[in-house]
Amino acid sequence: MTTLPLKITDLIHPERLSKFMNRATESHAVSLTVLDSKGQPLPAPVERVPLPAESHGDPDLVQRGLKEKNPDRVLRHPTLPLYAAPLFCQGVSVGLLLVRFQKDSTDPKTRSQEEREVRQIRDHLQDLLDTGYELLNLSSEIVRNYEELALLYDLSMKLSAQSDLERICQIVADEVQSVLPAKNLSILLVDARTGVLNSKISVDRDGHRHPPFQLEPGQGITGRVAQTGQPLIVCDVGQDTGFIPASYPITSLLSVPMILGRKTLGTINVSDKLDGKEFSTYDLKLILAIAAEAAVALENARLFAEVKDLFLSTVKSLVMAIDAKDPYTHLHSLRVSEVSSILSDELGLSPLEVEQIKLAALLHDVGKIGVPEQVLLKPDKLSPREWEEMKRHPLHSVQILEQVRQFSHIVKWVRHEHEHYNGAGYPDGLKDEAIPLPSRIIAVADAFDAITSDRYYRKGRPEEVAVDILQKGSGIQFDPDVIRAFVSAHRKGRFKGLPI
Ligand SMILES: [Fe+2]
Ligand SMILES: [Fe+2]
Repeated sequence: MTTLPLKITDLIHPERLSKFMNRATESHAVSLTVLDSKGQPLPAPVERVPLPAESHGDPDLVQRGLKEKNPDRVLRHPTLPLYAAPLFCQGVSVGLLLVRFQKDSTDPKTRSQEEREVRQIRDHLQDLLDTGYELLNLSSEIVRNYEELALLYDLSMKLSAQSDLERICQIVADEVQSVLPAKNLSILLVDARTGVLNSKISVDRDGHRHPPFQLEPGQGITGRVAQTGQPLIVCDVGQDTGFIPASYPITSLLSVPMILGRKTLGTINVSDKLDGKEFSTYDLKLILAIAAEAAVALENARLFAEVKDLFLSTVKSLVMAIDAKDPYTHLHSLRVSEVSSILSDELGLSPLEVEQIKLAALLHDVGKIGVPEQVLLKPDKLSPREWEEMKRHPLHSVQILEQVRQFSHIVKWVRHEHEHYNGAGYPDGLKDEAIPLPSRIIAVADAFDAITSDRYYRKGRPEEVAVDILQKGSGIQFDPDVIRAFVSAHRKGRFKGLPI
């Protein structure tokens, strides 16, 4: 709804008002003017018959007219043929119509005729004001709908690319804070197994985080909203018997469920509007629309995570089956994958890069499936020919991984996992930065696991020995930056608890 009070000029365009007044002076023997709510004449010139000057300046009649509460009342000047009719918008006074007849008469019949005419003009003008108000409401509704639509479109674009729960919650929180500024905001997600609500985000208006909290199913106002799927506005939480005090003060609360189908995925909760007003049904509608978008994104992220888990466990079982051919390389790929992920993180790579390198490391020896078992499992030293056979395993890996479109970005990394920083490695003899960084990372992780794992001919050596050997190879076999990251991770104890 449009906010009151409004001005006459908000409701009728000055040109239209001017036309109306000219037409009225044509059809009635009057001159007239319209005053605003402060008693000032509106800039709507009457071309034909202007109101005589003395009529404007009758403060008593103007004041009485402006104070008049009855919309049907027409006031008459005690001596002049001058009338004042109040104008309203939704019951609120917006101004006054002054009508002056050209001829003065004391005849009661003429006077009641005059009053009828004034009413006619006033009713006509009031109709224009009412229509103006309806139009204004309609257009502001259209603008608001459009703004709402634009906002939701923008939000759905931002969310569509997201598969990370934390990120989705942050985007939703930012959106809610921008459309509904309030003292506190929290986003809670339902644990699908237990039904418990866990706070993912709980912040004040300055972005300071409140301690995380949990609610049992149905517990507190928010728990009730999640359980029933019904949004709530509570003006005074103190009056609500089910309210559970938070770690920060709350007076009023708006709580909206994020629902997909029949499943409640979580709630969005906003407490105490910054402007001090109560939450309106419009606020509720807006946050519900945002919650609907959020629910779709959350469900997509969950499905994505499920498919990703399935994919990763399939890859893991494939790789473990290959590693299991040799009891001495059992879980080798899993460990190399974990260590590569730690090194990538230590080097400051993005979470996405870390994840991709972790996958590449998991698959780095997949080509060993193409190496004959008598070579792969030979307990003695390999002959030069057998060694050549063994050195072909990165190329076998490439052949296998090239078949899967989703692996296209990691094929090169796996190909070069046995290159040496000084160019003495295989299969292409690349050196320095020409070797992809992920390959340089996997090379260090691979060597670390080879040193620390048992072999036919020796026991696995301690981590400290590996650190020593790897540091000696820095700049020769290994990238010095990756070795630095390795030493730093070792000092932090990040290699404890690897799969054995
Ligand atoms: Fe390898
Ligand atoms: Fe390896």
